[in-house]
Amino acid sequence: KKLKVLGVAGSLRKGSYNKALLRAALEESPEDVELEVFDLEGIPPYNQDLDNDMPAKVKEFKSKIKAADAILIATPEYNYSVPGVLKNAIDWASRPPGDNSWDDKPVAIMSASIGMLAGARAQYHLRQTFVYINMHPVNRPEIMVPFAADKVDANGRVTDEKTRRKIKELLESLASWTRRLKR
Ligand code: FNR
Repeated sequence: KKLKVLGVAGSLRKGSYNKALLRAALEESPEDVELEVFDLEGIPPYNQDLDNDMPAKVKEFKSKIKAADAILIATPEYNYSVPGVLKNAIDWASRPPGDNSWDDKPVAIMSASIGMLAGARAQYHLRQTFVYINMHPVNRPEIMVPFAADKVDANGRVTDEKTRRKIKELLESLASWTRRLKR
């Protein structure tokens, strides 16, 4: 049976390099993986008053997460941390108490940056959050794409072969990690 993986980008912009990583992941998916990408556009700022009356888009997000065997996140680093857009979506889906959609899910992270450190700091902040929401991150390979502007063309395609190969490896690693956890 194919593994269902839900891809989420931590950037809303059309020309996002991180969205480009997810598009490359769609193209490089191994046979046994069915990847679907969810766009965070339209998820409002988190408000605890709505925990028992969540917006439709959040409900949809939560049910997609629950239906997935594993999660793939591609995120930029904003000011040395996780972009608010992504953290906000993580917070919504972790609620209400007793209905944390992320619970027990395997997850893999990628990050792309125009800079040299390639989002490494955001990745480690994200891993800290995974502890509380009880997600199980893949450790290797670590995919941090520096100088992303040189590796994505005008159509938003990742042209760098080494990056594409790494993405494929990450998906293979996520798939075998997920099957291991399911045993
Ligand atoms: C950035 N950028 C950035 N890059 C980085 O490597 N470390 C950082 O801390 C930050 N901080 C930061 C803050 C804010 C508010 C913005 C808008 C940008 C640059 C970032 O790498 C670049 O904008 C990427 O193109 C963002 O990813 P997407 O949108 O292309 O996926």
